Amino acid sequence: MRRVLLVFTAIVANFTICHSQEQRPYQEPFFEDKWSKPSEHPDRIVLNFGENPATTASVTWRTSPTINEAFAEMAIATGAPKFWRNAKTVTAKTTTFDASAIETAEVVSNYHSATFNDLQPNTTYAYRVGDGNRWSEWIQFKTASDNPEDSFSFLYVGDTQNFILELWSRLIREGYKTAPDASFIIHAGDLVNNAHREQEWEEWFIAGGWIHSSLPSFPVPGNHEYRPLNDEEAKNKIRSLSAQWKPQFTLPENGPEGLEESVYYMDYQNTRVIGLNSNEETEKQAKWVDEVLSNTSQKWKVITFHHPLFSASEGRDNEELRNLWKPIFDKHEVDLVLQGHDHSYARGRVSPGDNVLDGVNLRDKTGTVYVVSVSGGKMYKLRPNAWEGWEANRNRAAENTQLFQVITIEGDKLSFESYTAIGELYDAFDLVKKPNEPNSFVERKGEGINARRFGNTIPYQDTLPENLKEIIFKQYKGHQLNRVSFVKEDGVTGYRVRIRNDKQSVNLFIDESGKILDEDIYTF
Ligand SMILES: [Fe+2]
Repeated sequence: MRRVLLVFTAIVANFTICHSQEQRPYQEPFFEDKWSKPSEHPDRIVLNFGENPATTASVTWRTSPTINEAFAEMAIATGAPKFWRNAKTVTAKTTTFDASAIETAEVVSNYHSATFNDLQPNTTYAYRVGDGNRWSEWIQFKTASDNPEDSFSFLYVGDTQNFILELWSRLIREGYKTAPDASFIIHAGDLVNNAHREQEWEEWFIAGGWIHSSLPSFPVPGNHEYRPLNDEEAKNKIRSLSAQWKPQFTLPENGPEGLEESVYYMDYQNTRVIGLNSNEETEKQAKWVDEVLSNTSQKWKVITFHHPLFSASEGRDNEELRNLWKPIFDKHEVDLVLQGHDHSYARGRVSPGDNVLDGVNLRDKTGTVYVVSVSGGKMYKLRPNAWEGWEANRNRAAENTQLFQVITIEGDKLSFESYTAIGELYDAFDLVKKPNEPNSFVERKGEGINARRFGNTIPYQDTLPENLKEIIFKQYKGHQLNRVSFVKEDGVTGYRVRIRNDKQSVNLFIDESGKILDEDIYTF
């Protein structure tokens, strides 16, 4: 028996070694078109808070267009199963979402939304949605406390965007396991890759499942939520907000005119949480956010948007946006800015005043802390020289790692923790409020695991064999290799390769024998 076991162990070990040396082609999962189509039963149930999360919450869901009348029922939940005796019924607003002419959407569905305005603070409610005949399960959530100093936590995730069902599912579920009492979740843009693509939204809803219906979402759109709706828009280089965005979320309509539901805020206990849309009309938002930050006495100010003011990744810098918004954040002493877009992790801070950060007096105090994070499976390289040249210090960074964040606010203290997709603590810090002084900063990154980079993690890029490299660069002289993925598509195994020079970027599909099967050229 022992001998058998040894032989078996040897085989497993051998298999593991070979396995890690050989490249394994990536094959995108296939979904039938009908997979994401609506039925008469409610699906895509998503919960959002209103401007005052102690009293207001909205629920939105989808059905086939045959369901024209829909309701939400809401009751204070109790341990006794017949809590529903006390339920209130609200008739939902039903709108038909006709995306039959939008490429990649090609669906007609009805969206239903119901808002409850007179909820009691700090109370667990149960709700269900349906047409009076077909109903969802009863779903529970809790309203905010009316005591501003009560402790609460929330989750924050960066770009979901790619491999949503394959890989974001584990991340969001681990996030929920780590912070089951979280009050809401911030999605900092790029929830999907192709704004209007039904399959990706379906993946997003299935990956999150009942987390989306029980943990209120606070989403802002990223650049990938903007794509042309039709040929006319494509020809004129116009990109429109995801056709699904407004039908499927019911968000506070307190943003600037024309940007409702992509720019908004809520006051969760002692914290003003503001969502901005870094894709359009950023000057109009500068004026609005200045006002929204002026007319509040909330202790904590947290802002989220997609394009970072301090980029995490190589070759990226949103200088114009930084020049426009950072002075406003400085003026109002915004505590925390949560961003995405860069497919890596970076956390750092600016100084609280004109002094440089390493000035002795201000060493333990801080201005705004800026974070970029990524939750989906696409990964970019970090900016090699950190935040040099931007008068900001990057204190912690990661590559090639799916992360979620848990932020806990308890009175004068904000604790920030970042976790990997398997629940390891990766980064942490605290901010402590001091009367008439900048926040004290407590560095806690030492509590986390070792720094993660492309060099010490499972390779993200595949290796292009030398013979194929020769074939490609014989044809495309002066280009540099940018990305390589070993893939299997429609039964063909080969390499998806991106090469570029200063004039163009070329995407190629080359099979293992060296035949170029597909070529897409983008000129800059
Ligand atoms: Fe992005």
